[in-house]
Amino acid sequence: MKSKVSRLDRFISKNSDYLLSEVRLLIAQKRILLDGKEAQSVQQKVTEFTHVVLDGRCLRDNTPVYIMLNKPPGVVSATKDLKHPTVLDLIDHPKKTELHIVGRLDFNTTGLVLLTNNGAWSRKVSLPETKLEKTYQVTLSKPLSEQYIDAFEKGIYFAYEGMTTQPARLTILSEYTATLSLVEGKYHQVKRMFGFFQNQVMELHRVSVGSIELGELNLGDYRLLAKDEVELWP
Ligand code: URA
Repeated sequence: MKSKVSRLDRFISKNSDYLLSEVRLLIAQKRILLDGKEAQSVQQKVTEFTHVVLDGRCLRDNTPVYIMLNKPPGVVSATKDLKHPTVLDLIDHPKKTELHIVGRLDFNTTGLVLLTNNGAWSRKVSLPETKLEKTYQVTLSKPLSEQYIDAFEKGIYFAYEGMTTQPARLTILSEYTATLSLVEGKYHQVKRMFGFFQNQVMELHRVSVGSIELGELNLGDYRLLAKDEVELWP
């Protein structure tokens, strides 16, 4: 595989009007910053994640971006769709085209959607072994009963996948509403779990993923994740 690491002098000559032989002088004149620090030598390594600035102009900026969005109903959890608006259409960010979705929601499901350009981060948080808890507010078509709590704790058998769902925590809020916390993300998982009781999900809203909470963010709005929200991931 081709290395993505280059020497500083080669990187500068490739990405500016300066010649390889001029880079030593640029360094001596303290005109190059690598990750915010003055460059020291032509041999310094520039990786795909190095932030490189020459005379105040950014030559490479691969800073990862992490965004949370409150998805409205009728919006597709995809980066492109021919018929409907997508979650990306709601975002105005210079790195928008680099973003991908971490854990999709159904067309009419609302709530917390995470987007990033950091594939390593999204892979890690989506791994089944990470067992990250996702919490949903659910409104049902028929009354709930205590029976559901026990059944979801034991797990529901999904014939299509030939597996039983991992223990899930149901808190009944009223006759027709509850919160459900899951550590998996199987296809239509919440709807299928309530489907076991022939109880149709009328409204589904994701309120948190791990320690990241949607909070007061309005439907259709988004914000960047704070540093501690990103770092709290396993
Ligand atoms: N479970 C579902 O059934 N739908 C979603 O959008 C998310 C979880």
